[in-house]
Amino acid sequence: MYSEKVMDHFNNPRNVGEIENPSGVGTVGNAKCGDIMRMYFDIDKQGIIRDVKFKTFGCGAAVATSSMATELVKGKTIQEALEVTNKAVMEALDGLPPVKVHCSLLAEEAIHAALWDYAQKNHIVIEGLKEPVNDIAEKAEDEEY
Ligand code: FES
Repeated sequence: MYSEKVMDHFNNPRNVGEIENPSGVGTVGNAKCGDIMRMYFDIDKQGIIRDVKFKTFGCGAAVATSSMATELVKGKTIQEALEVTNKAVMEALDGLPPVKVHCSLLAEEAIHAALWDYAQKNHIVIEGLKEPVNDIAEKAEDEEY
């Protein structure tokens, strides 16, 4: 039911942990399943995401999507990171079973939350970034994904 890539990222998640004094940190949850994901970004003066770490208290798909999401945003610019949608993460993982698609939304929202925190701390506006929600269960209900 899960692709080999999902199983690999679940069994050997990349970039697990925390960053001390991160440039931005974002935490999102899904009240329906109780899962929580936190992402830490280290962003340099040129706006390049130099390091990413995550902690996910959640299902296997949430762990695999956070791991893949961190790999996809590492070394990227902020604008490029905004293009890492849940669909992009799912594609990179060779898909997720339909009942697990919502788990990948946590990864997208955690990226946005970490970038939002970075923008707040630096008093800047990141074009195209909307204020993230803390509980994606609200978002998942009124969005097609
Ligand atoms: Fe909650 Fe997967 S079941 S994130």
